[in-house]
Amino acid sequence: MSCPYSMPVLYSVHTRPVDRADDWPGDQGVPPAGRVVDLDEAREFLETFHRETQPGADLEVRWAQIKAEVAETGLYEQTFAELQFGARVAWRQSARCIGRARWQSLVVRDARRVRGGDAVARELADHLRFATNGGRIRSTITIFAPDDALGAPVRIRNDQLIRYAGYRDPGGLVVGDPRYAEFTGELIDRGWQPPTPQTAFDLLPWLIESRDEAPRIVPVPSAIVLEVPISHPTLPWFAALGLRWHAVPAISNMTLRIGGLTYSCAPFNGFYLVDEIATRNFGDTDRYNVLPEVAARMGLDNGAADNYWQLRAAVEVNTAVLHSFRQAGVRIAEPTAESTLFRTFADREEAAGRPVYGDWSWINGHLGSGFGPAWHRYYHPAEPNPNFWPANHQSPAGATQPVVADPVNADHEPDDIPCLHSERHAVDDSAGRLYDTFLAVVEPKVCAMVDSLHSDINGSVAREAEPVFGEGGARRRLRDRWRRPQC
Ligand code: ARG
Repeated sequence: MSCPYSMPVLYSVHTRPVDRADDWPGDQGVPPAGRVVDLDEAREFLETFHRETQPGADLEVRWAQIKAEVAETGLYEQTFAELQFGARVAWRQSARCIGRARWQSLVVRDARRVRGGDAVARELADHLRFATNGGRIRSTITIFAPDDALGAPVRIRNDQLIRYAGYRDPGGLVVGDPRYAEFTGELIDRGWQPPTPQTAFDLLPWLIESRDEAPRIVPVPSAIVLEVPISHPTLPWFAALGLRWHAVPAISNMTLRIGGLTYSCAPFNGFYLVDEIATRNFGDTDRYNVLPEVAARMGLDNGAADNYWQLRAAVEVNTAVLHSFRQAGVRIAEPTAESTLFRTFADREEAAGRPVYGDWSWINGHLGSGFGPAWHRYYHPAEPNPNFWPANHQSPAGATQPVVADPVNADHEPDDIPCLHSERHAVDDSAGRLYDTFLAVVEPKVCAMVDSLHSDINGSVAREAEPVFGEGGARRRLRDRWRRPQC
């Protein structure tokens, strides 16, 4: 059977000379002490920025400025227009995100001058208030100061701004979200006192690390956290399960890379796709694991291997989440419509002459994905910068013992900075460690080309030749550290 959409798309790859950073002496692969900017990447980004936005200013004048600033200070300051464009393109190029058609709507909040844990916490609260917007969620990113020669000036240890605690009892059972049992334990060891009684949906506080300060544990102001109790349109017993979920997914530990600069603290949010909550957070056996109980209440044998009980229960959990969010007036995406929108995005990207970067398995990870048009084609596997990368867990220099801080004032009025939107899914930083091992074992410059192999839906094969590590030696290798490991 032939599939009307299964045309493999072949792209030419962008190869560019790696001789831009002409003021880096030698080719040692590491910037001189105090210099942390990848100038090749800075130049490449500047060219993209000028090509796509026609900012009016002269590219070569700006490039000379950047090089002079880097030579003098080790860093350069991006203009707001560069920062905003870079953050939006990072979303556009986020291979795992199905919602990228909205990349230009990202509101970018510039917090590069914000210093100190308390001020950072106020910014995070402002971000959430602005992004939540009473349920009409706005995709938003708040960008703090870039890393310098000492590393990240500030870092948020939580992987999302809103998450639920997981309390493990001595028998190993967890009340709450098992994914956060270890982090919850760490917070308690550091002095956090969980509410009493403990419930399955207690908000975790923020753990903020700021240079030359003790890490701060800051309770999230509950008044700014919008949550939705989950009920079902036709199954009256569903509400009694007591499920609820927060409205805003806000990733807070990924690193944003723009124009050779690294922003280790740049929390960003979009809005949910139903499956993220229903299939994964509620359904996964190592998360809230509700499917056996839902199936039992539906009268299904949840011990059988041939009655689709997980799938049938998952359909009802998804139905309940979609229904509840819609009823509460909270923005949420339904997957088949989202898949259609993603195809529109893909078509638009190709019409603009750009490859459609994407990780097929993430784009098609929802229930019924085969019913959506994003299923019926493949995507370019590269992940160029600007992009979002997994956190590396280095604490800022000078960080000392933790303190438990006062709650952020929930009445504080946010600056209504009309500046973004996007995101990508958090990944285990073990991937980063694996990649480091890979780099140590394989000398990348000996690999000129890498073939990536894609089986299409009919079992036929398309090959793309992708130069992953070309000539360019150590400098190129430095840039390649910012490629996402494929493991
Ligand atoms: N999957 C994550 C969660 O369940 C959220 C990741 C970001 N998702 C998004 N739609 N922006 O919380």
